[in-house]
Amino acid sequence: MRQPVRIAVTGAAGHIGYNLIFRIASGDMLGYRQPVILQLLEIPAMLDALKGVAMELNDCAFPLLSGMLITDVPEDGFAGADIVIMVGSRPRTKGMERSDLLTINGEIFRTQGKALDKVASPKAKVLVVGNPANTNALIAASHAKRLDAANYTSMMRLDHNRALSKIASHAGRPVTSVRKAIAWGNHSSAQFPDLYHAVVDGISASQFIHDPQWIEKEFIPAIQNRGTEILEARGSSSVGSAANAVVCHVRDWLLGTPENDWVSMGVASDGSYGIAQGVIYGFPVQCSQGRYAIVENLEITPFMRERMDESCRQLLWERDQVRHLMG
Ligand code: NAD
Ligand code: LMR
Repeated sequence: MRQPVRIAVTGAAGHIGYNLIFRIASGDMLGYRQPVILQLLEIPAMLDALKGVAMELNDCAFPLLSGMLITDVPEDGFAGADIVIMVGSRPRTKGMERSDLLTINGEIFRTQGKALDKVASPKAKVLVVGNPANTNALIAASHAKRLDAANYTSMMRLDHNRALSKIASHAGRPVTSVRKAIAWGNHSSAQFPDLYHAVVDGISASQFIHDPQWIEKEFIPAIQNRGTEILEARGSSSVGSAANAVVCHVRDWLLGTPENDWVSMGVASDGSYGIAQGVIYGFPVQCSQGRYAIVENLEITPFMRERMDESCRQLLWERDQVRHLMG
């Protein structure tokens, strides 16, 4: 039997948390042979609710769930964690931009970034989901002393999956025919969803679709604004698709990306594609043996450059707003 992997999840009794932890315990994320220990963190007011969720997890009799801890103390929740999924934070409501959450949620990532660095495994892999995710990940990473700051990532996978699905439906092909979409930049309406590098059935997606107007006027804005569209329709932000994107992000990071494909992850910019260092930016990455590498040398046209730079400018602005929270 393999050693269990310790997975900390913050905001575990919230909407995304509730949709996520059963999938982790069932083996969807790390495979059906990998035991897991769940370390679930909530605020004090939600501890009773979290106890109820823990009862339900027990009632599933998941063969892979080899331990569980519930707590409202970050240092306990993160102790020895190998994977840390930071969901706990406020979602936006109608009429808000994600960046309106900067000051509301930023403090959480300062406190928890410090706690993580004290007690998590030095090799821990961190995924920030709480919005604005890229900048919250930057705040948490800025407190990394013992942990590797390159292991703090933010979630762009929901945007990536949205792009795959939209390309597939417009092309009239199954989603498995589509590869190599990219969500560049910030998880915000200033992201750049890129189908110009994508392929459908091995053919360039833009040639396959052969409709530049649709790409510019429909595809790009649709992905940029999909979170808002869902918020308007549901009255609250996306949950099931977000939890699924967490599963995809962590699975591919740990177990590897499929051959001849890539995924989008928010990672610390190393200056690739001229993106300023010091921001966490959505890049195409390939993963193998638990490491990610930014896909280099893709051709960038002036149209793409303009949109990639706009997202970078927004992230630099967000960073300026939260300097006081950074280590
Ligand atoms: P929710 O309000 O249903 O749940 C959030 C939970 O976090 C609550 O249970 C709350 O008690 C808990 N929490 C708050 N502060 C905490 C703290 N300091 N420590 C531990 N737990 C804490 O919200 P949700 O729908 O689950 O969304 C959570 C976050 O995920 C929001 O910020 C939302 O905007 C974001 N989100 C991101 C993406 C993405 O693609 N990056 C997608 C969807 C949602
Ligand atoms: C999303 O993209 O659905 C999430 O970030 C939630 C939101 O606020 O839009």
